[in-house]
Amino acid sequence: MILVTGGTGYIGSHASLVLHEAGHEVVLLDNLSNSDAAVLDRLAVLAGRPFAFVEGDIRDETLLAQVFAEYQIDGVMHFAGLKSVAESVADPLKYFDNNVAGTRTLLGAMSAANVHRMVFSSSATVYDGSQRPPFAEDAALGASNPYGNSKAQVEALLADVAASDQRWSFALLRYFNPVGGHESGLLGENPRGIPNNLMPYICQVASGMRESLTVHGDDYPTVDGTGVRDFIHVMDLVDGHVAALDYCMKNSGVLTANLGTGTGTSVIQLIETFERITGNRVPFQIGPRRPGDVAESWADAAVAERLLGWRAKLGLPEMCRDSWTWQSTLARGDV
Ligand code: NAD
Ligand code: UD1
Repeated sequence: MILVTGGTGYIGSHASLVLHEAGHEVVLLDNLSNSDAAVLDRLAVLAGRPFAFVEGDIRDETLLAQVFAEYQIDGVMHFAGLKSVAESVADPLKYFDNNVAGTRTLLGAMSAANVHRMVFSSSATVYDGSQRPPFAEDAALGASNPYGNSKAQVEALLADVAASDQRWSFALLRYFNPVGGHESGLLGENPRGIPNNLMPYICQVASGMRESLTVHGDDYPTVDGTGVRDFIHVMDLVDGHVAALDYCMKNSGVLTANLGTGTGTSVIQLIETFERITGNRVPFQIGPRRPGDVAESWADAAVAERLLGWRAKLGLPEMCRDSWTWQSTLARGDV
Protein backbone atom coordinates (compact mmCIF):
# COMPACT_ATOMS: atom_id res chain seq x y z
CA MET A 1 0.00 0.00 0.00
CA ILE A 2 1.20 3.51 -0.84
CA LEU A 3 0.71 6.45 1.52
CA VAL A 4 -0.05 9.61 -0.49
CA THR A 5 0.49 12.72 1.61
CA GLY A 6 -1.30 15.75 0.21
CA GLY A 7 -3.55 13.20 -1.51
CA THR A 8 -6.57 15.48 -1.91
CA GLY A 9 -4.47 18.27 -3.45
CA TYR A 10 -4.05 19.04 -7.14
CA ILE A 11 -1.21 16.68 -8.03
CA GLY A 12 -1.79 14.18 -5.20
CA SER A 13 -5.36 13.49 -6.32
CA HIS A 14 -4.28 12.68 -9.88
CA ALA A 15 -1.42 10.56 -8.53
CA SER A 16 -3.77 8.62 -6.26
CA LEU A 17 -5.94 7.74 -9.23
CA VAL A 18 -3.09 6.54 -11.44
CA LEU A 19 -1.54 4.58 -8.56
CA HIS A 20 -4.88 2.81 -8.17
CA GLU A 21 -5.03 2.21 -11.92
CA ALA A 22 -1.49 0.80 -11.82
CA GLY A 23 -2.65 -1.76 -9.25
CA HIS A 24 -1.48 -0.10 -6.02
CA GLU A 25 -3.61 0.18 -2.91
CA VAL A 26 -3.50 3.74 -1.63
CA VAL A 27 -4.25 5.64 1.54
CA LEU A 28 -4.47 9.41 1.34
CA LEU A 29 -3.39 11.73 4.15
CA ASP A 30 -4.21 15.43 4.02
CA ASN A 31 -4.95 18.18 6.52
CA LEU A 32 -7.24 19.87 3.95
CA SER A 33 -5.40 23.18 4.38
CA ASN A 34 -5.44 23.70 0.61
CA SER A 35 -7.95 21.16 -0.66
CA ASP A 36 -11.43 19.85 -0.12
CA ALA A 37 -12.71 16.47 1.04
CA ALA A 38 -15.15 16.55 -1.91
CA VAL A 39 -12.19 15.41 -4.05
CA LEU A 40 -12.63 12.00 -2.41
CA ASP A 41 -16.14 11.64 -3.85
CA ARG A 42 -14.90 12.36 -7.35
CA LEU A 43 -11.95 10.00 -6.94
CA ALA A 44 -14.41 7.29 -5.86
CA VAL A 45 -16.45 7.88 -9.04
CA LEU A 46 -13.34 7.58 -11.20
CA ALA A 47 -11.93 4.55 -9.39
CA GLY A 48 -15.25 2.80 -8.87
CA ARG A 49 -14.63 2.56 -5.15
CA PRO A 50 -13.68 4.83 -2.27
CA PHE A 51 -10.07 5.48 -1.27
CA ALA A 52 -8.87 5.16 2.30
CA PHE A 53 -8.42 8.66 3.71
CA VAL A 54 -6.96 10.05 6.92
CA GLU A 55 -7.56 13.70 7.72
CA GLY A 56 -4.42 14.88 9.48
CA ASP A 57 -1.10 16.61 9.42
CA ILE A 58 2.35 15.28 8.49
CA ARG A 59 3.69 17.14 11.54
CA ASP A 60 1.52 15.01 13.86
CA GLU A 61 3.88 12.27 15.04
CA THR A 62 1.22 10.35 16.98
CA LEU A 63 -1.17 10.30 14.06
CA LEU A 64 1.58 9.14 11.67
CA ALA A 65 2.49 6.28 14.02
CA GLN A 66 -1.17 5.22 13.96
CA VAL A 67 -1.34 5.38 10.18
CA PHE A 68 1.81 3.28 9.76
CA ALA A 69 0.50 0.81 12.35
CA GLU A 70 -2.93 0.51 10.73
CA TYR A 71 -1.85 0.22 7.11
CA GLN A 72 0.82 -1.99 5.58
CA ILE A 73 2.72 0.84 3.85
CA ASP A 74 5.38 -0.06 1.25
CA GLY A 75 6.22 3.45 0.15
CA VAL A 76 5.25 7.10 0.42
CA MET A 77 4.43 9.66 -2.25
CA HIS A 78 4.98 12.92 -0.45
CA PHE A 79 3.01 15.81 -1.95
CA ALA A 80 1.94 17.54 1.28
CA GLY A 81 3.41 21.01 1.34
CA LEU A 82 2.70 24.70 1.00
CA LYS A 83 3.52 26.21 -2.39
CA SER A 84 2.86 29.94 -2.52
CA VAL A 85 6.03 31.89 -3.21
CA ALA A 86 4.51 35.17 -1.99
CA GLU A 87 3.25 33.62 1.25
CA SER A 88 6.66 32.05 1.86
CA VAL A 89 8.33 35.45 1.57
CA ALA A 90 5.88 36.90 4.09
CA ASP A 91 6.07 33.93 6.49
CA PRO A 92 9.25 31.86 6.00
CA LEU A 93 8.86 30.12 9.38
CA LYS A 94 5.52 28.69 8.27
CA TYR A 95 7.22 27.23 5.18
CA PHE A 96 10.13 25.82 7.14
CA ASP A 97 7.76 24.29 9.67
CA ASN A 98 5.33 22.77 7.19
CA ASN A 99 7.64 21.73 4.35
CA VAL A 100 10.96 20.98 6.05
CA ALA A 101 10.06 20.07 9.65
CA GLY A 102 6.94 18.27 8.34
CA THR A 103 9.09 16.09 6.09
CA ARG A 104 11.47 15.43 8.98
CA THR A 105 8.56 14.18 11.13
CA LEU A 106 7.31 12.03 8.28
CA LEU A 107 10.79 10.50 7.83
CA GLY A 108 10.94 9.69 11.55
CA ALA A 109 7.61 7.87 11.37
CA MET A 110 8.70 6.02 8.23
CA SER A 111 11.94 4.94 9.85
CA ALA A 112 10.13 3.73 12.98
CA ALA A 113 7.76 1.71 10.78
CA ASN A 114 10.58 0.33 8.64
CA VAL A 115 9.35 2.07 5.49
CA HIS A 116 12.25 3.39 3.44
CA ARG A 117 10.87 4.51 0.07
CA MET A 118 9.71 7.99 -0.79
CA VAL A 119 8.90 9.91 -3.95
CA PHE A 120 9.24 13.59 -3.13
CA SER A 121 7.68 16.62 -4.87
CA SER A 122 10.53 18.96 -5.55
CA SER A 123 10.50 21.85 -7.98
CA ALA A 124 12.47 23.41 -10.80
CA THR A 125 12.49 26.47 -8.58
CA VAL A 126 15.59 24.95 -6.87
CA TYR A 127 17.67 25.85 -9.98
CA ASP A 128 19.56 29.10 -10.29
CA GLY A 129 17.21 30.85 -12.70
CA SER A 130 19.87 33.27 -13.88
CA GLN A 131 21.49 30.40 -15.80
CA ARG A 132 20.44 29.50 -19.35
CA PRO A 133 18.02 26.60 -19.90
CA PRO A 134 17.67 23.73 -20.44
CA PHE A 135 18.24 22.83 -16.80
CA ALA A 136 19.81 19.43 -16.25
CA GLU A 137 19.83 17.92 -12.76
CA ASP A 138 23.48 18.89 -12.22
CA ALA A 139 22.84 22.56 -13.09
CA ALA A 140 23.70 25.15 -10.44
CA LEU A 141 21.17 25.39 -7.63
CA GLY A 142 20.02 28.72 -6.27
CA ALA A 143 16.46 29.03 -5.11
CA SER A 144 15.48 32.66 -4.78
CA ASN A 145 12.71 32.52 -2.19
CA PRO A 146 11.80 30.68 1.06
CA TYR A 147 9.47 28.26 -0.77
CA GLY A 148 12.29 27.23 -3.11
CA ASN A 149 14.70 27.05 -0.20
CA SER A 150 12.33 24.70 1.64
CA LYS A 151 12.45 22.32 -1.34
CA ALA A 152 16.26 22.54 -1.57
CA GLN A 153 16.55 21.90 2.19
CA VAL A 154 14.38 18.79 1.99
CA GLU A 155 16.43 17.55 -0.96
CA ALA A 156 19.62 17.97 1.10
CA LEU A 157 18.05 16.26 4.11
CA LEU A 158 16.96 13.28 2.02
CA ALA A 159 20.46 12.96 0.55
CA ASP A 160 21.97 12.93 4.07
CA VAL A 161 19.47 10.36 5.29
CA ALA A 162 20.09 8.12 2.26
CA ALA A 163 23.84 8.32 2.85
CA SER A 164 23.38 7.20 6.46
CA ASP A 165 21.60 3.93 5.71
CA GLN A 166 21.45 2.12 2.39
CA ARG A 167 17.91 0.88 2.94
CA TRP A 168 16.58 4.31 2.02
CA SER A 169 15.42 4.99 -1.49
CA PHE A 170 14.33 8.46 -2.55
CA ALA A 171 13.17 9.92 -5.85
CA LEU A 172 13.43 13.69 -5.88
CA LEU A 173 11.26 14.84 -8.75
CA ARG A 174 11.74 18.42 -9.89
CA TYR A 175 8.54 19.56 -11.55
CA PHE A 176 8.49 22.30 -14.13
CA ASN A 177 5.03 23.87 -14.66
CA PRO A 178 2.19 21.38 -14.13
CA VAL A 179 -1.12 22.30 -15.78
CA GLY A 180 -4.29 20.56 -16.94
CA GLY A 181 -6.46 18.01 -15.21
CA HIS A 182 -8.03 14.61 -15.61
CA GLU A 183 -9.83 14.39 -18.95
CA SER A 184 -13.12 13.58 -17.21
CA GLY A 185 -13.19 17.10 -15.79
CA LEU A 186 -13.50 15.63 -12.28
CA LEU A 187 -10.00 16.48 -11.07
CA GLY A 188 -7.98 19.66 -11.48
CA GLU A 189 -6.44 22.60 -9.71
CA ASN A 190 -8.80 24.80 -7.72
CA PRO A 191 -6.80 27.80 -6.52
CA ARG A 192 -8.21 29.76 -3.60
CA GLY A 193 -8.57 33.49 -4.28
CA ILE A 194 -6.83 35.21 -7.17
CA PRO A 195 -4.65 32.69 -9.04
CA ASN A 196 -0.92 33.37 -9.08
CA ASN A 197 -0.18 30.93 -11.84
CA LEU A 198 -0.75 31.55 -15.52
CA MET A 199 -3.02 28.70 -16.66
CA PRO A 200 -5.63 29.04 -13.87
CA TYR A 201 -5.69 32.77 -14.55
CA ILE A 202 -6.19 32.23 -18.30
CA CYS A 203 -9.07 29.84 -17.52
CA GLN A 204 -10.76 32.34 -15.22
CA VAL A 205 -10.53 35.10 -17.84
CA ALA A 206 -11.89 32.75 -20.53
CA SER A 207 -14.83 31.82 -18.31
CA GLY A 208 -15.66 35.47 -17.65
CA MET A 209 -14.73 35.41 -13.96
CA ARG A 210 -12.00 37.98 -14.62
CA GLU A 211 -11.91 40.70 -17.22
CA SER A 212 -8.41 40.30 -18.59
CA LEU A 213 -5.00 38.82 -18.00
CA THR A 214 -1.95 40.90 -17.23
CA VAL A 215 1.11 39.56 -19.03
CA HIS A 216 4.00 40.21 -16.68
CA GLY A 217 6.52 41.80 -19.03
CA ASP A 218 7.15 41.65 -22.78
CA ASP A 219 10.75 42.83 -22.77
CA TYR A 220 12.51 39.56 -21.89
CA PRO A 221 15.16 38.26 -24.29
CA THR A 222 12.80 35.52 -25.51
CA VAL A 223 11.02 34.54 -28.72
CA ASP A 224 8.34 37.24 -28.31
CA GLY A 225 9.54 39.09 -25.20
CA THR A 226 7.26 37.24 -22.76
CA GLY A 227 8.38 34.63 -20.21
CA VAL A 228 9.03 31.09 -21.41
CA ARG A 229 8.14 28.00 -19.33
CA ASP A 230 8.04 24.22 -19.64
CA PHE A 231 4.36 23.40 -19.16
CA ILE A 232 3.69 19.76 -18.41
CA HIS A 233 0.35 17.95 -18.31
CA VAL A 234 -0.46 16.74 -14.80
CA MET A 235 -1.35 13.26 -16.14
CA ASP A 236 2.14 12.95 -17.63
CA LEU A 237 3.60 14.25 -14.38
CA VAL A 238 1.87 11.62 -12.25
CA ASP A 239 2.82 8.85 -14.69
CA GLY A 240 6.41 9.90 -13.96
CA HIS A 241 5.70 9.36 -10.26
CA VAL A 242 4.50 5.81 -10.78
CA ALA A 243 7.67 5.11 -12.78
CA ALA A 244 9.76 6.69 -10.00
CA LEU A 245 8.05 4.56 -7.35
CA ASP A 246 8.86 1.43 -9.35
CA TYR A 247 12.45 2.63 -9.54
CA CYS A 248 12.55 3.11 -5.74
CA MET A 249 11.25 -0.45 -5.29
CA LYS A 250 14.30 -1.75 -7.18
CA ASN A 251 17.07 0.71 -6.21
CA SER A 252 18.36 2.40 -3.10
CA GLY A 253 19.94 5.82 -2.72
CA VAL A 254 18.80 9.05 -4.30
CA LEU A 255 17.44 9.60 -7.79
CA THR A 256 17.05 13.22 -8.82
CA ALA A 257 15.02 13.72 -11.97
CA ASN A 258 13.38 16.61 -13.78
CA LEU A 259 9.79 16.14 -14.86
CA GLY A 260 9.20 18.42 -17.81
CA THR A 261 8.61 18.14 -21.54
CA GLY A 262 11.91 19.70 -22.50
CA THR A 263 10.10 22.34 -24.55
CA GLY A 264 9.65 26.01 -23.73
CA THR A 265 6.44 27.91 -24.47
CA SER A 266 6.00 31.66 -24.09
CA VAL A 267 3.11 33.29 -22.29
CA ILE A 268 1.77 34.64 -25.59
CA GLN A 269 2.15 31.25 -27.29
CA LEU A 270 0.16 29.63 -24.48
CA ILE A 271 -2.62 32.22 -24.77
CA GLU A 272 -2.79 31.71 -28.54
CA THR A 273 -2.95 27.92 -28.23
CA PHE A 274 -5.60 28.15 -25.51
CA GLU A 275 -7.75 30.43 -27.70
CA ARG A 276 -7.39 28.14 -30.72
CA ILE A 277 -8.15 24.92 -28.85
CA THR A 278 -11.02 26.11 -26.66
CA GLY A 279 -12.56 28.73 -28.95
CA ASN A 280 -12.47 31.30 -26.14
CA ARG A 281 -10.99 34.76 -26.23
CA VAL A 282 -8.46 35.71 -23.57
CA PRO A 283 -8.11 39.49 -23.50
CA PHE A 284 -4.79 40.61 -22.06
CA GLN A 285 -2.66 43.67 -21.51
CA ILE A 286 1.06 43.95 -20.97
CA GLY A 287 2.16 44.89 -17.46
CA PRO A 288 5.53 45.24 -15.76
CA ARG A 289 7.75 42.24 -15.02
CA ARG A 290 6.78 40.25 -11.90
CA PRO A 291 9.54 40.45 -9.26
CA GLY A 292 11.45 37.19 -8.94
CA ASP A 293 10.50 35.88 -12.40
CA VAL A 294 13.12 34.43 -14.70
CA ALA A 295 13.04 34.93 -18.47
CA GLU A 296 13.14 31.29 -19.52
CA SER A 297 12.97 27.88 -17.91
CA TRP A 298 12.68 24.45 -19.43
CA ALA A 299 13.92 21.00 -18.55
CA ASP A 300 16.56 18.71 -19.84
CA ALA A 301 14.36 15.64 -19.39
CA ALA A 302 16.95 13.02 -20.41
CA VAL A 303 17.52 11.52 -16.92
CA ALA A 304 13.84 10.63 -16.48
CA GLU A 305 13.80 9.04 -19.91
CA ARG A 306 17.01 7.08 -19.36
CA LEU A 307 16.40 5.89 -15.79
CA LEU A 308 12.62 5.80 -15.54
CA GLY A 309 11.71 5.06 -19.14
CA TRP A 310 9.38 8.05 -18.88
CA ARG A 311 8.74 10.93 -21.20
CA ALA A 312 5.87 13.39 -21.48
CA LYS A 313 3.35 12.39 -24.14
CA LEU A 314 0.74 15.14 -24.00
CA GLY A 315 1.21 18.46 -25.74
CA LEU A 316 0.06 22.02 -25.25
CA PRO A 317 -3.31 21.39 -26.99
CA GLU A 318 -4.22 18.65 -24.49
CA MET A 319 -3.03 20.84 -21.60
CA CYS A 320 -5.32 23.66 -22.75
CA ARG A 321 -8.23 21.33 -23.48
CA ASP A 322 -8.12 19.62 -20.08
CA SER A 323 -7.55 22.85 -18.14
CA TRP A 324 -10.65 24.24 -19.84
CA THR A 325 -12.71 21.09 -19.21
CA TRP A 326 -11.86 21.41 -15.53
CA GLN A 327 -12.68 25.14 -15.50
CA SER A 328 -16.06 24.29 -17.02
CA THR A 329 -16.68 21.81 -14.18
CA LEU A 330 -15.84 24.53 -11.68
CA ALA A 331 -18.09 27.03 -13.46
CA ARG A 332 -21.05 24.62 -13.31
CA GLY A 333 -20.49 24.45 -9.55
CA ASP A 334 -20.12 20.67 -9.77
CA VAL A 335 -17.26 20.58 -7.26
P1 NAD B 1 -1.82 21.49 -3.43
O1 NAD B 1 -1.82 22.62 -2.47
O2 NAD B 1 -3.00 21.34 -4.34
O3 NAD B 1 -1.62 20.10 -2.66
C1 NAD B 1 -0.89 19.99 -1.47
C2 NAD B 1 -1.78 19.28 -0.46
O4 NAD B 1 -1.04 19.11 0.75
C3 NAD B 1 -3.04 20.08 -0.13
O5 NAD B 1 -4.16 19.23 -0.28
C4 NAD B 1 -2.84 20.48 1.32
O6 NAD B 1 -4.07 20.53 2.03
C5 NAD B 1 -1.90 19.40 1.83
N1 NAD B 1 -1.03 19.78 2.94
C6 NAD B 1 -0.26 20.88 3.04
N2 NAD B 1 0.42 20.87 4.20
C7 NAD B 1 0.07 19.71 4.84
C8 NAD B 1 0.44 19.13 6.07
N3 NAD B 1 1.29 19.73 6.91
N4 NAD B 1 -0.09 17.94 6.40
C9 NAD B 1 -0.98 17.31 5.58
N5 NAD B 1 -1.36 17.84 4.41
C10 NAD B 1 -0.85 19.02 4.04
O7 NAD B 1 -0.49 21.59 -4.28
P2 NAD B 1 0.00 20.74 -5.53
O8 NAD B 1 0.08 21.67 -6.69
O9 NAD B 1 -0.77 19.50 -5.64
O10 NAD B 1 1.50 20.43 -5.09
C11 NAD B 1 1.87 19.21 -4.50
C12 NAD B 1 3.34 19.26 -4.16
O11 NAD B 1 4.08 19.50 -5.35
C13 NAD B 1 3.73 20.37 -3.19
O12 NAD B 1 4.70 19.88 -2.30
C14 NAD B 1 4.29 21.45 -4.09
O13 NAD B 1 5.22 22.25 -3.40
C15 NAD B 1 4.96 20.60 -5.17
N6 NAD B 1 5.09 21.31 -6.44
C16 NAD B 1 3.99 21.83 -7.06
C17 NAD B 1 4.13 22.51 -8.25
C18 NAD B 1 2.92 23.08 -8.95
O14 NAD B 1 3.10 23.89 -9.85
N7 NAD B 1 1.70 22.71 -8.62
C19 NAD B 1 5.40 22.68 -8.82
C20 NAD B 1 6.50 22.14 -8.17
C21 NAD B 1 6.34 21.45 -6.97
C1 UD1 C 1 5.67 29.79 -10.22
C2 UD1 C 1 6.49 29.90 -8.95
C3 UD1 C 1 7.32 28.64 -8.78
C4 UD1 C 1 6.43 27.40 -8.85
C5 UD1 C 1 5.66 27.43 -10.17
C6 UD1 C 1 4.74 26.28 -10.38
C7 UD1 C 1 6.93 32.29 -8.70
C8 UD1 C 1 7.97 33.38 -8.77
N1 UD1 C 1 7.36 31.06 -9.03
O1 UD1 C 1 6.57 29.67 -11.31
O2 UD1 C 1 7.99 28.66 -7.55
O3 UD1 C 1 7.20 26.22 -8.75
O4 UD1 C 1 4.89 28.64 -10.21
O5 UD1 C 1 3.65 26.36 -9.50
O6 UD1 C 1 5.78 32.51 -8.31
N2 UD1 C 1 2.34 35.14 -15.87
C9 UD1 C 1 1.70 36.22 -16.44
N3 UD1 C 1 0.53 36.63 -15.91
C10 UD1 C 1 -0.06 36.00 -14.84
C11 UD1 C 1 0.60 34.88 -14.26
C12 UD1 C 1 1.81 34.49 -14.81
O7 UD1 C 1 2.20 36.82 -17.39
O8 UD1 C 1 -1.14 36.42 -14.39
C13 UD1 C 1 3.62 34.70 -16.46
C14 UD1 C 1 4.78 34.74 -15.48
O9 UD1 C 1 5.37 36.02 -15.48
C15 UD1 C 1 5.69 33.66 -16.07
C16 UD1 C 1 4.70 32.64 -16.66
O10 UD1 C 1 3.47 33.35 -16.83
O11 UD1 C 1 6.47 34.17 -17.11
C17 UD1 C 1 4.45 31.45 -15.75
O12 UD1 C 1 4.07 31.92 -14.47
P1 UD1 C 1 3.53 30.95 -13.32
O13 UD1 C 1 2.43 30.11 -13.85
O14 UD1 C 1 3.26 31.78 -12.11
O15 UD1 C 1 4.76 29.96 -13.05
P2 UD1 C 1 6.30 30.28 -12.71
O16 UD1 C 1 6.56 31.72 -12.61
O17 UD1 C 1 7.13 29.50 -13.67
